[in-house]
Amino acid sequence: MKEEILKIKESIEKAIKENDSLQALEDLRVSYMGKKGIFTELSKKMKELTNEERPKVGQIINETKSFIIDLIDKKNIELKERELNKKLSSEVVDISLPGVRCQGGTIHPVNETMNFIKNIFVKMGFDVVDGPEIEKVEYNFDALNILKSHPSRDLTDTFYINDSVLLRTQTSPVQIRYMLEHKAPLRMICPGKVYRPDYDISHTPMFHQMEGLVIGKDISFADLKGILTYFVKEVFGERKVRFRPHFFPFTEPSAEMDVECNICHGEGCRLCKESGWLEIMGCGMVDPEVLKYVGFDPGEVSGFAFGLGIERITMLRHGIGDLRAFFENDVRFLKQFK
Ligand code: DAH
Repeated sequence: MKEEILKIKESIEKAIKENDSLQALEDLRVSYMGKKGIFTELSKKMKELTNEERPKVGQIINETKSFIIDLIDKKNIELKERELNKKLSSEVVDISLPGVRCQGGTIHPVNETMNFIKNIFVKMGFDVVDGPEIEKVEYNFDALNILKSHPSRDLTDTFYINDSVLLRTQTSPVQIRYMLEHKAPLRMICPGKVYRPDYDISHTPMFHQMEGLVIGKDISFADLKGILTYFVKEVFGERKVRFRPHFFPFTEPSAEMDVECNICHGEGCRLCKESGWLEIMGCGMVDPEVLKYVGFDPGEVSGFAFGLGIERITMLRHGIGDLRAFFENDVRFLKQFK
């Protein structure tokens, strides 16, 4: 039996040495030491031995067993170390390599222009106010003296939510809301999003406008001209401006304000459609009908209003030809406005 044990020992030793996976080593351990393992078998055989042989063989079995356990433990440590080294060398980090650069964001050019414009009016003492984008038909049209038959009310020009609610098509209804809640004298601007069902090189279904309103005693067209001329010079520098008679239902008289074309300086070019002028906003004296609607007495107070497209001003400031570029979010386009 002694020889049998020795043979077993040799074959186990060989198997452990040749093995090189942790899982296989565990399988070996179970097959030797487990309940049904080789040593259990050997212990069972001890019954056949004489009383004299039994303790000696028992001792050999025990020594062999602890030898094997020791061997397995050592092999276990060796394999674990090898695995760790392999992992460490495959995950090595070369700290001398340049890192991945994190690109900083930029303020969107439309927002940048909006802030720029806001600041000019804030310096002149205007309040900056907000109004809802989901608006009453009443404030968007009726209160602004826009006839029921006016084409801007058509389904093709306005996103209706129901008969009395819509997505505002202009920031002008904020004038109404503001006058209903404040007394004259007042000065406010309202920048924000507006919606119209259009999509081409110069129209997107959502765009930004800024409304302005000044109401007080003896406010005249001269005040309108003074403030808006100052504003345009702040934005575009020393350039000629002109007020061209126009019509808006909520102002009387009304005008459109133009600034001299910065490409051709009045000579006529493609940008200004050969006119030498670029249209930048609508304006006028607040119509007495509008004042009456909000409970102001046109005999007591007067005022002027104006409305401009933020995208249009941004396009003119930066020489951008296609309005849609603002909303495509191509980083190559946006990055230019750092
Ligand atoms: N609401 C007008 C539009 O969307 C712009 C406008 C023109 C606003 C004249 C005004 C104004 O306040 O006086 O086309």
